[in-house]
Amino acid sequence: MRIADRLWDSVASQLGRPHGIAGRVVGRILNRGNYTTVAAAVAATEAGAGATVADVGFGGGIGLDELLAAVGETGTVHGLEIAPTMLDQAGKRYRAEIAAGRLVLHAGAMHEMPLATASLDAAISTNTVYFIDDLGAAFAELARVLRPSGRVVLGVGDPADMARMPFTENRFRLRPIAEIVEHLQAAGLVLREDRRISNGRMQFHLLVCEKPHTQPK
Ligand SMILES: C[S@@+](CC[C@H](N)C(=O)[O-])C[C@H]1O[C@@H](n2cnc3c(N)ncnc32)[C@H](O)[C@@H]1O
Repeated sequence: MRIADRLWDSVASQLGRPHGIAGRVVGRILNRGNYTTVAAAVAATEAGAGATVADVGFGGGIGLDELLAAVGETGTVHGLEIAPTMLDQAGKRYRAEIAAGRLVLHAGAMHEMPLATASLDAAISTNTVYFIDDLGAAFAELARVLRPSGRVVLGVGDPADMARMPFTENRFRLRPIAEIVEHLQAAGLVLREDRRISNGRMQFHLLVCEKPHTQPK
């Protein structure tokens, strides 16, 4: 592998599962680079004071900040991550919120969430689906943990824009948005909106979905 390819491969590996000292730096870079998308995803959940919400694959944790602000002192935020480095970083950074019971961190993957059925009013997951092989299993889990009428907002980079990034060649799975929507619908989630946003460098899709009161037949 050429040196440049090796470099981009290690960037992709860090983005898929930040680890070690470099992973801590990646967490901070993610917070800065993805702020616009993450904040827009939280706003699209319309979660208000007292809600129970989650960020699945929170990375550097900017989504935890935004969700904590949205649900206030009486709400609860769950943060799920597969990366021990990100869990450790968030555990230190949000010590006070965890001690107050406002934030609960979990080691877990989207396809296997340690959360009770119908326990969430809303969830976000931004820039994670590229690293998930079995979207059917992952979205079925999202649908399970949402309460009826609960919302999930997925933030996904536009595949054409993502394909132009040198680090997405390896380890990323760039699917057409229509394919992701098909998986959401197969999991029983209803797409309410495909909201487009831009962070100045590329376009993102916020796929705003709801769990219906009765599962469609
Ligand atoms: C590119 S980062 C995005 C972080 C954050 N959501 C953001 O938008 O800045 C992807 C994150 O998803 C996590 N991740 C990858 N696969 C996951 C899975 N199956 N379930 C939960 N988290 C996952 C990674 O550990 C990493 O922290």
